Amino acid sequence: MILNSFILVLLKLDIMNYKAADKLQDLQYFGEYGGVNPSISDSSTYTFISAKTMFDTFEGNTEGCYLYSRHSSPSNLYLGEALAALEGTETANVYGSGMGAITSVILQLCDAGDHIVSSRTIYGGTYAFMKNFLKKFNISTSFVDSTDLKAIENSITPKTKMIYCEAVSNPLLEVADIAAISKLAKKYGLPLVVDNTFSPLSITPGKLGADIIIHSLTKFINGTSDCVAGVVCGTSDFCLSLKDVNSGAGMLLGSTLDSLRASSILKNMRTLHIRMKKHSGNALYLAHKFEQDGLKVSYPGLQSHSGYEIMTQQMNAEYGYGGLLTINVGSLENANSLMELMQENGLGYLAVSLGFYKTLFSAPGTSTSSEIPLEEQKEMGLSEGLIRFSIGLDNDIERTYTLMRACMLRLNIFDAEEVY
Ligand SMILES: Cc1ncc(COP(=O)(O)O)c(C=O)c1O
Repeated sequence: MILNSFILVLLKLDIMNYKAADKLQDLQYFGEYGGVNPSISDSSTYTFISAKTMFDTFEGNTEGCYLYSRHSSPSNLYLGEALAALEGTETANVYGSGMGAITSVILQLCDAGDHIVSSRTIYGGTYAFMKNFLKKFNISTSFVDSTDLKAIENSITPKTKMIYCEAVSNPLLEVADIAAISKLAKKYGLPLVVDNTFSPLSITPGKLGADIIIHSLTKFINGTSDCVAGVVCGTSDFCLSLKDVNSGAGMLLGSTLDSLRASSILKNMRTLHIRMKKHSGNALYLAHKFEQDGLKVSYPGLQSHSGYEIMTQQMNAEYGYGGLLTINVGSLENANSLMELMQENGLGYLAVSLGFYKTLFSAPGTSTSSEIPLEEQKEMGLSEGLIRFSIGLDNDIERTYTLMRACMLRLNIFDAEEVY
């Protein structure tokens, strides 16, 4: 027991030693003309003075030479460098979407006939890819409760090629015990792949033992809801294998990020630390208030949340518990009426996605998780009346609370039996 606590303290110290925001702050880019922002590489293809260098570049043997922008481009490499600094990995490859990153990783790690162990509460698109699309390749997935280590271990077979989970899951906000799952993964020689889209800066999965970290950059990291993009952070070997001209899933499936976008995302990343603190502070305030009002609120920063302790142990405290919370308002009808009314009152948008300056809300059962069959939604606790909120950067969150509460009172949400 004492030894366990000691190990936890050491682990915590190690996580806290990794100062991702400082690493990002320290990065320096010198533009082609000395600009403080690097020049945007506006080319799909690159010239060579000698044919021999072109051949060597194809073979992957020339450092600093570019061939074709689906393989790599200066702007994408700059963004990748910043994302590797964020996650503390050797390197990172950027993609045209979060799904582009996820599908490339899966298809790089798995061959026909292989098997995946995945958390059952994951983004609907990832779930649909594993459950429906991978059938074409006879790749099967066991979906398990990722908070149940025994269930994960029992699902591992000789064909298993990876363990997959989200650090904080979409939409139920379950918190994965990354250090424990990583220990298990290492015992069986399997890579642990963690989607950290919901908790950038708050959780650094690589420092807890994850091998590959994925983000949908579309969300908090970009933060302006104006593009889709993704990233894979990992070792140089793995990221190079994704880029291999003969066998790299990233290179061959072609989910390339445009340089113009890479450059705008890089600029937005510079305020990520400020934004995450504000998103988290606002979400914590509302979660407490609505819980005190008696609503069924799920937020990893509430002591009533099943993942509170794990989250507290493994998080970088200064960034808080994240910007996502859910409230169960009892029925889909209540959820829809409340979301429409909040939108009419300028409190946010009835829209999927997350990480915007305004609050975004949606009912995951009928939107982002609708790919998950109803029976399975019920089994995992995803009820119809659940609203997922991505809390915005509201300057006066007390005012927001008063206005949101007024909407709830107007619709008699507090009177619905199921909400308590
Ligand atoms: C946790 C998570 N991972 C991955 C994705 C997919 O990202 P993208 O839409 O950028 O392809 C999403 C999208 O909502 C998500 O919420």
